[in-house]
Amino acid sequence: MQIDLRSDTVTKPSPDMRKAMANADVGDYVYGDDPTVNALEEKAADLFGKEDAIFVSSGTQGNLISVLSQAGRGDEILLGDICHIFSSEAGGVSVLGGVVMYPLKTNTDGTIDEEKITEAVKPDDYHKPNTKLFAFENSHGGISGMPINKESSDKMALAAKKSGLRVHVDGARIFNASIALGTSVKDLTEHVDSVTFCLSKGLSCPVGSIIVGDNNQIAEARRIRKLLGSAMRQVGVLASCGIVALDSMIERLAEDHDNAKKLAVGLSEISKIVINPDNIHTNLVKFRVPQNKGFEVSEKLKDLGILINGSYTELRMVSHYGIDSKDIDKTIESMSAVMNSISA
Ligand SMILES: Cc1ncc(COP(=O)(O)O)c(C=O)c1O
Repeated sequence: MQIDLRSDTVTKPSPDMRKAMANADVGDYVYGDDPTVNALEEKAADLFGKEDAIFVSSGTQGNLISVLSQAGRGDEILLGDICHIFSSEAGGVSVLGGVVMYPLKTNTDGTIDEEKITEAVKPDDYHKPNTKLFAFENSHGGISGMPINKESSDKMALAAKKSGLRVHVDGARIFNASIALGTSVKDLTEHVDSVTFCLSKGLSCPVGSIIVGDNNQIAEARRIRKLLGSAMRQVGVLASCGIVALDSMIERLAEDHDNAKKLAVGLSEISKIVINPDNIHTNLVKFRVPQNKGFEVSEKLKDLGILINGSYTELRMVSHYGIDSKDIDKTIESMSAVMNSISA
């Protein structure tokens, strides 16, 4: 059996999800007739204390629709320089929506200084784009899944709002942040306008993400989702898994965090690996190996049945539903053997 640590997106639906899919009551979602997706959207909106929610196909689409429903052609979004929207979504908000992305320096804890946000808002000047939106990521995938606490989230959101901006959170893994911090997602996102979160990562659903926000924004999001060709039909089959996830898979994320911590501690004891386990709070474990040895390390691990992600020097392992403590032991053991065989 392979140990697949590439991402929490490799998770497979739980037995309860498979049952829920088989029994899901469905209808044509575009006509508003799918009771299961309607129930999921209502549950998600309640959980976040927002007015409405919309089911979308992926996290990338959730962010794209969130941005396009709050900023138009020639408008500007301020966002972190290593966030997923800026670095890993094919420039979609600019390509498809004509929205200008203005990256701000991200601190090592995943936050962005309030002054940087305020100073980046453009004056009313026809040479400039109109700054409309600020976005940040929680947990921050670029920084080993760093959770951003309520105090820091509120500071960023309120600074942006004071400048008249709307605020979006890429909360692909916001439940990981919530569990790690012991703060509800409702509290964590109290001052933001919209949040995208993924069902198909640590929550283990096969497909789907959700955007929560206010009634006007979600109405606009429905129009944009249609424009993008993603108004789905008997989607209750997928949404049924989302209901199982929100009811029973959130608390379980703590196990992934424990496994990630154990992994980080084990890796830190292997020579030629650089990682500080104190920086691992959720399920993403990033570490460095000697320069340009990353591909060799991952290939050798693959030969031992362990799949990981990474490139030249920085590598990533992700704990998730389907990885247990014994898998972590085997990974640490294999990693030790691989690092011994690497010349550096
Ligand atoms: C922080 C973050 N945002 C958004 C996404 C996009 O999600 P998806 O792969 O469902 O498009 C990811 C995916 O890994 C992510 O890590």
